Amino acid sequence: MNLKDLYINYFVSKGHKQIPSAPLVPENDPSVLFNTAGMQPLIPYLMGEPHPYGKRLCDYQKCVRLTDLDSVGDKTHHTFFEMLGNWSLGDYFKKESIAYSFEFLTSVLNIPIERLAITVYEGDDKIPRDEVSADAWKSHGIKEERIAYLGREDNFWIPGDSGPCGGDTEIFYWRSDDEIPERFDPEDDRWVEIWNNVFMEYHQDKDGNITELTQKNVDTGMGYERVVAVLEGVDDNYLTSVWKRPLKTLMEIAGKPYEGNETSMRIVLDHIRTSVFIAADPAGIKPSNTDQGYILRRLIRRAIRHAMKLGIDTRSDFTTPLALTFIEEYKKYYKELEDNKEVILEVLKGEKEKFAKTLEKGLKIFEKVAQSSNKIDGETAFHLYDTYGFPIELTKEEATLRNMEVDEEGFNEKFKEHQEKSRTASKGKFKGGLSGNSEIETKYHTATHLLNAALKKVIGPSVHQLGSNITEERLRFDFPCDHKLTEEEKKQVEELVNKWIEEEIPVTHETMSKESAIESGAECMFIERYPDLVTVYTIGDISKELCGGPHVQNTKEIGHFKIKKEESSSAGVRRIKAVIEPKEN
Ligand code: SER
Repeated sequence: MNLKDLYINYFVSKGHKQIPSAPLVPENDPSVLFNTAGMQPLIPYLMGEPHPYGKRLCDYQKCVRLTDLDSVGDKTHHTFFEMLGNWSLGDYFKKESIAYSFEFLTSVLNIPIERLAITVYEGDDKIPRDEVSADAWKSHGIKEERIAYLGREDNFWIPGDSGPCGGDTEIFYWRSDDEIPERFDPEDDRWVEIWNNVFMEYHQDKDGNITELTQKNVDTGMGYERVVAVLEGVDDNYLTSVWKRPLKTLMEIAGKPYEGNETSMRIVLDHIRTSVFIAADPAGIKPSNTDQGYILRRLIRRAIRHAMKLGIDTRSDFTTPLALTFIEEYKKYYKELEDNKEVILEVLKGEKEKFAKTLEKGLKIFEKVAQSSNKIDGETAFHLYDTYGFPIELTKEEATLRNMEVDEEGFNEKFKEHQEKSRTASKGKFKGGLSGNSEIETKYHTATHLLNAALKKVIGPSVHQLGSNITEERLRFDFPCDHKLTEEEKKQVEELVNKWIEEEIPVTHETMSKESAIESGAECMFIERYPDLVTVYTIGDISKELCGGPHVQNTKEIGHFKIKKEESSSAGVRRIKAVIEPKEN
């Protein structure tokens, strides 16, 4: 039986009423473009309004999240996903919720208890540490070593920056053939989160004031595809039953196998599926340059570019068979796909034709430049990218066909300038982040400079610091990058940093005028933030940065460098968390 049916049947048998999946575009909430969680349509009821179906609800909810857009192409990230959820609106609370989750996982899905681990909220100055949940898990046989207490960043859930909220308990599954460690380490990504039970008993307003809600609620969310992957024992979501037929259709269209073409195939599949669902929504979204319409446009165009990479003739009607496969696959659960079939096919086809035209215009520019030069300069490459939607890969391919060169570095420069401008405009703030100065933090400061330099070598010169934050436990570094780092890239970065540490390179610093610093090629984030006299820290010929310090005197003092996490921080920005450990010898 399908996991969605198992889930609904189980909770219905426990007195829950199934509610239909709400539309993707929220009906009464202009503050978000799409539903991003199962609970979103239920906010008024979590706040105390009586729900017509009662106090125990369950559903599967379609969601679109764009925060992971840049990670799509890897094995696990998607822009569209389905969330299985069950709710108690002022009815049962922690103990019962945990009992249901435990029973569903171990008795319905038959997941062995040894493969499970739990996080609970460690509390803060306003909310107590959640011993009730920890005890409840223990009463079902979860060992103490498999329970971790985490803080607000990990185990507190609030929709956006205000609303009903509370601490949560998260359930993790050991998805690896490696021996399962006794002690649960939430940073070890062989443990994957599969279910999140939020205990919504508070309300937080926009100023951060917390008050108690009139009722204590439970809001749980389980990522459908992730759990299917767990149950089917694969670590690539696209190799689960969910994608079997769509992937087969795409391989037939492309005339290519999945192996060796994974990234583009995943992007085409993910983006076409999300586009199908957006186009089917009752809100009647059409591709445009604003709001949901713009998202739809971007998704379709990106899918087309990757279809081109796969060698698909994009003048052919290739979106139709793909869309039809998705409609077939999902119509049992989402009737709107069948009802709006013609609209969906037309939206995809129409946008594909529009894009073909701007592509043509872009190609004309190409021809024009080609008549008088054998080089596409950075400015033109960026103009092609920005105005005509030409990814740099496409510009390079077209250039090769005409025996032309592309100034990729110039393009990266322009890209960087543009990104800085738009980030500054949207965020208006950056943190230097280097403020503490204990011995370990000092080591982290220097490690941050090495990381920056290593990323430039491995990813490309467009990498630079967008944000940095150091604690005694780790460093955090944000930088522009259009893709999730591969295992290989992460390894190369780690190895480079460790190599430089081993080379025992002296770290020197000099005070000079801001102008000379810039002239000397020192890197700096926001030149206008620095005083006229600045300090430049130099690590051999590896790194030169304007910085307030403090730093170690020699890289050998740092220890062993290790990347713990690499994730999306916002669109086009990746975040690395890394630690340093004492050297082995
Ligand atoms: N709101 C929580 C989440 O999205 C649980 O549903 O994870």
